[in-house]
Amino acid sequence: MTATETVYPASIFSLTDHEIYLVTAQNEGQDGGQIATWVMPATLVPDHPRMTILLSPMNFTQGLIAGSGRFVVHLLSEEQHELLPLFGLYSMRDRDKFADISFERGEHGIPLLPGSCGWAVCHVVASLDLGDRILYVADIESQEVATNRRPLRKREAFALQPPELRRLLEEKHRVDGLRDRTLIKHITH
Ligand SMILES: Cc1cc2nc3c(=O)[nH]c(=O)nc-3n(C[C@H](O)[C@H](O)[C@H](O)COP(=O)(O)O)c2cc1C
Repeated sequence: MTATETVYPASIFSLTDHEIYLVTAQNEGQDGGQIATWVMPATLVPDHPRMTILLSPMNFTQGLIAGSGRFVVHLLSEEQHELLPLFGLYSMRDRDKFADISFERGEHGIPLLPGSCGWAVCHVVASLDLGDRILYVADIESQEVATNRRPLRKREAFALQPPELRRLLEEKHRVDGLRDRTLIKHITH
């Protein structure tokens, strides 16, 4: 460690191991997709399923969701670990992530990838701008579950990457964190 590096307190979340989700969206003929981990169910009411998701305002995919109010969340399966760098390292602004993968179009024309543990078609009902993240609350319109596959989790997903891609993913995480320090809103009550 150099003298200029800051030491942060340990995080309780370093002990967790989040599932990996792929979020896809479409707006005005443009497709997008990104990896997300901050995805949560948001109600116990079985006939009114609802979820929350936290997305960076800097992400191309977020812009599509802001425009269309819709997205699809896929819970990735262990076999889909190669989708992590494709959808989590690069932006659709710089590369067409859908050029070399097979996908269909689900409801509202949103890209739907085969091989996941399941997917949910969502429409946004509320949002909160936190600066570095937009918190979306979304109702689930329809969903499909494949119980024969195991969800991909973050630790395993990183362990399965080639070392150079793992290094790039970790570096992006660090750089995004520095960028987000300038975006985060200080909320007071
Ligand atoms: C393991 C992992 C988890 C991530 N979780 C989130 C997340 O919850 N929310 C988010 O906005 N970005 C998250 N990202 C970052 C986006 O996937 C990444 O910035 C992506 O390149 C954005 O692509 P886009 O600009 O094409 O939308 C995550 C990335 C990785 C590798």
